[in-house]
Amino acid sequence: MEGFNFFNLMIIALLCLSSFVHSLEIGETCSSSSQCDAGLICQSCPANGNTGSTCTRIQPLNPTSKVNGLPFNKYSWLTTHNSYAITGANSATGSFLISPKNQEDSITNQLKNGVRGIMLDTYDFQNDIWLCHSTGGTCFNFTAFQPAINALKEINDFLESNLSEIVTIILEDYVKSPMGLTNVFNASGLSKFQLPISRMPKDGTDWPTVDDMVKQNQRLVVFTSKKDKEASEGFAYQWNYMVENQFGNDGLKDGSCSSRSESSPLDTKSLSLVFQNYFETNPNSTQACADNSSPLIEMMRACHEAAGKRWPNFIAVDFYQRSDSGGAAEAVDEANGRLTCGCDSLVFCKSNAPFGTCDAPPPKSAPSPVAGGTDSSRNSKNLPAGNADSTAMGLSSLVLISAATLLLW
Ligand SMILES: *[C@@H]1O[C@H](CO)[C@@H](O)[C@H](O)[C@H]1NC(C)=O
Ligand SMILES: *[C@@H]1O[C@H](CO)[C@@H](O)[C@H](O)[C@H]1NC(C)=O
Ligand SMILES: *[C@@H]1O[C@H](CO)[C@@H](O)[C@H](O)[C@H]1NC(C)=O
Ligand SMILES: *[C@@H]1O[C@H](CO)[C@@H](O)[C@H](O)[C@H]1NC(C)=O
Repeated sequence: MEGFNFFNLMIIALLCLSSFVHSLEIGETCSSSSQCDAGLICQSCPANGNTGSTCTRIQPLNPTSKVNGLPFNKYSWLTTHNSYAITGANSATGSFLISPKNQEDSITNQLKNGVRGIMLDTYDFQNDIWLCHSTGGTCFNFTAFQPAINALKEINDFLESNLSEIVTIILEDYVKSPMGLTNVFNASGLSKFQLPISRMPKDGTDWPTVDDMVKQNQRLVVFTSKKDKEASEGFAYQWNYMVENQFGNDGLKDGSCSSRSESSPLDTKSLSLVFQNYFETNPNSTQACADNSSPLIEMMRACHEAAGKRWPNFIAVDFYQRSDSGGAAEAVDEANGRLTCGCDSLVFCKSNAPFGTCDAPPPKSAPSPVAGGTDSSRNSKNLPAGNADSTAMGLSSLVLISAATLLLW
């Protein structure tokens, strides 16, 4: 009788364990993210009428994973708008915080998930440089998130432990204190990684190759919105290098993808980088899954036309993890496919094959271009973070071995 109870317990334990290690693919019904494959989370999208939860993508493929060694401007990088404004954040001043929130996980976690463009708003505050989302160029306790050095150190740690990764920081910069940015970048450790402006083309030619940036350890690109800092501190003035479409609701509604006021027209070919905004004026986490789905990809195609047949190098969204299926990750994969190999998605690129050599799309039954076991790259090292697949396989084997041992015993 005792033995029977023991075996019952063991069987229940094994069932629990195997349901835990079972991996669900994109589009499959789930009840928690731990059931989904690596790079996926379990979510619903009621704003699109999808009330049931399914596994959805949050990680793009590594842009350089299929075709390496191209110039920096031949890749597309997933970018988070107001990367530092995270749900649940408090003001480090101890005050209440009235600023809206645009993301849901830490910058460290964003980087782990393949985000490579980080957008920060920098202000002079309390004799230091802070990240604030404020108004009129002045930070207040109730619009202050935290000292900028904290976020910069997270980026520094990532670059120090991932020696072939490249990160871009785009600053909405209200810092007026002399050498304010220089000091905080220096203090965070990031200065050593900065690509010097002497290496950034202003005439529409190609940027250095990603290989060369990695080799020279110049793996950080920083842009400021303040023009004079290019001469005074060596920080690249954004509008000397990139074009950008309208942001907020006006941008969302503008099917022709027109430029924001600070930017040259999108088809200005003397500016080598194309930046695409796609987010609500008032961040709305409920609406984000709808925005970050097919409308994001439609806008990307409109921006490609508007930018003189150039695919965006940066795709900036709110709540980057939210979507009804492939999301911002899929948009970035599509841009990288077009840019690096001439295929509809990076998923279909063959490694280091001539431009235009594509794998056949998966059979029609698959729910999306990246879905299903037909795509071996999903299980390979191409995913930027972790490899839960192999962990799950290891656990499954462990379960089988334990089961066998127990039965024999
Ligand atoms: C703002 O916060 C600081 C603490 O960081 C505090 O010393 C100061 O009194 C606060 N200012 C106001 C106006 O509440
Ligand atoms: C950067 O920091 C180092 C010490 O960490 C210091 O020697 C150097 O002068 C600083 N550079 C600037 C430009 O502040
Ligand atoms: C956020 O989006 C949802 C879904 O589209 C909508 O119902 C809601 O009214 C929006 N909230 C705000 C504050 O606009
Ligand atoms: C970054 O480095 C960490 C720690 O070594 C590693 O776990 C992670 O997989 C790396 N990520 C990328 C994108 O290389």
